[in-house]
Amino acid sequence: MPALHLQHLHKRFGATLALDDASLKVERGSIHGLVGENGAGKSTLIKILAGIHKADAGQVSIDGQSYGALSPRQVDALGVQFIHQERLLPASFTVGEALFFGHELRRGPFVDRRRQQREAERLLAEYFDLRLPAGALVSELSSAERQVLQITRALIRQPKILVFDEPSVALVKREVDQLLRIVKRLRDQGLSILYISHYLQEIDSLCDEVTVLRNGRDVAVVQPRHTSSAEIARLMVNREVQEMYPKAKVALGAPLLQVRGLSLARRYRQIDLDVRRGEIVGLTGLVGSGAKELFKTLFGVERADSGSVHLDGRLLRLRSPGQAIAEGLALVPEERRSQGISPVLSVLENLTLAGLGRFSRWGLLSRRKEQAESLRLIDELAIKAPGPQAAVSQLSGGNQQKVALGKWLSRRSAVYLLDEPCVGVDVGAKVEIYRLIGRLVEEGAAVLVLSSDLPELLGISDRILVLHRGEVAGEFRAGEADSDQLLACATGAVVAAALSAREVEHA
Ligand SMILES: Nc1ncnc2c1ncn2[C@@H]1O[C@H](COP(=O)(O)OP(=O)(O)OP(=O)(O)O)[C@@H](O)[C@H]1O
Ligand SMILES: [Mg+2]
Repeated sequence: MPALHLQHLHKRFGATLALDDASLKVERGSIHGLVGENGAGKSTLIKILAGIHKADAGQVSIDGQSYGALSPRQVDALGVQFIHQERLLPASFTVGEALFFGHELRRGPFVDRRRQQREAERLLAEYFDLRLPAGALVSELSSAERQVLQITRALIRQPKILVFDEPSVALVKREVDQLLRIVKRLRDQGLSILYISHYLQEIDSLCDEVTVLRNGRDVAVVQPRHTSSAEIARLMVNREVQEMYPKAKVALGAPLLQVRGLSLARRYRQIDLDVRRGEIVGLTGLVGSGAKELFKTLFGVERADSGSVHLDGRLLRLRSPGQAIAEGLALVPEERRSQGISPVLSVLENLTLAGLGRFSRWGLLSRRKEQAESLRLIDELAIKAPGPQAAVSQLSGGNQQKVALGKWLSRRSAVYLLDEPCVGVDVGAKVEIYRLIGRLVEEGAAVLVLSSDLPELLGISDRILVLHRGEVAGEFRAGEADSDQLLACATGAVVAAALSAREVEHA
C-alpha cells in the first residue's frame, strides 16, 4: 500500500485548467520527485493535498484511506507536513515563536518563550548546524535561514509524510547538501517524502522515483537510477533542451560599475569590484559571507559605512532602492514577490509600467513600443498566463519570477544587478533568461549576478568573485574554475590562489 496516492485530480481556475487528470503515487519509505515546467500544476497538486484547494474531481489516499476533500487540520492530524513554495512565517515572530507557532510549548497556561527559544536553538543547531541569535526576528533572517526554519518547523511535528515544494531555492550549496542529507536520513527512518524541485541534479541524487507533470497531467514516472537528467528535462518540456548556457563572446569595455573600499561593520570589509561594459561578473558566498549584504547595499537597502560606488565614473548615492534605480541601476531583487512585482497588476502592466516614473520622459509612443516588447518577452520567456492581462498573483511561482526578471530585461540600463535570477525557474526558461542576459552584455551593459547556483555562475559569468567572512576570498575566471574550487573558497577551505583584479584586467 503506497503512503500517498493522488488519483485523477482535476482542478480549474477560471479559464486555466491547472490539473487535468493528474495522478501520483509515493511508496512508503521512499523519496518521490515531482518535476514539471513552471505552471505545470505542481503546487496546485500539493495544495489540494494540503487542503488549501479543493479538487474539482479525483481523490487523495493516505495510508490506504481515501478522501474526496481534506481540510488542513485533517491533513495535519494524518501526519502530513509541508514546506510550501511561498514562505509563510510571520515577519514579526522570533525564531522560537515561529518554530512553535500553533503548537506552543507551555508552562501551565503560559507560553514558555525561554524554553521555545532554547529548543529552537538546539533544533536548528542539530539539524542544520545553524546558530541564530537568541530572539532574532523572522524579518531579520535571510531567506535561507527562513527556509531552514520552515523545514525545522515541519520536522518537529514528527510527520509520516513530508512534502517539499522547492525547498532548496533559497539555500546555498553547503546548505543544500545538508538538506539532501537530512531528507535521505528521514527516508531511511521510514518517512515518505514528496519532493518538488527544478534542480534536476537534486532530483537525480535524491529520488527513488520521479513523476513528470506536463500541462496538468502526469506524463511519465521514471527512476533517476535508470534515467538521465537530460531525459527528464526532455520529458518536462517535451522537446530537446539546447545548450544550457548559451554564451556569445563579447569584447569587454571600460569599467561601468566600480566599487571601492566598501565596508559595512560585521558584514563585509574593503570590497573592491569592477564590472566592465560587456562583462558578466558572478558573485557568490555562503550565508553570512557578506555577499547578500553587499548586494543589499548596491540595491540601496542597507547603507555602507564607508567606500564608494561609481557608475560610469559618477559617484552614486544609494540610500533607497528608488534612488538606486533613479541613479541608473536595474535591480532584480531575490524577494521578487514582495519587492519585484505588483501582484495585483497584470503581467503586461508589470512588464511595461515604468519603474518609479523613470521612463516617463519616453512619452506615449515608446510606451506602445514597450508594450510590444513586453508581449515579445511573454513569448520569449514562455510566461504561462491566461493572457497578458491576467493578474500576476494568479501565476505560478516560477512564472512570477519570470515577470519580475522580464520587467528589467526589457529596459535599457547600463548596469544590471541580478539577485538569484533563475531561482524557481524551469530548465527551459532558464536557458531563455541566460540568453537575454547575454543579449544585455552584447548591447554594452554590465551585469553583476549574485547566485548560489555554482554551475549557473560558471556557465554564464566571465569572472566570479567569492566572498568569505565579509572579504573577497577568491576571484576566478569562469572558464578555468569548477564548482568544487568555488565551494572550497566559499567555505574558507582554501584561500584561493586567486587572480588579482589586475591580472584579470590584463588577461
Ligand atoms: N489561485 C490561482 N488563480 C488562478 N490561477 C491559478 C491559481 N493558482 C495557480 N493557477 C494557475 O494554475 C497553473 C498551475 O500553477 P501551479 O502553481 O500549480 O504551477 P507549478 O507547477 O507549481 O509552477 P512553478 O514551477 O512555477 O511553481 C498555472 O497556469 C497558474 O497560473
Ligand atoms: Mg509551484
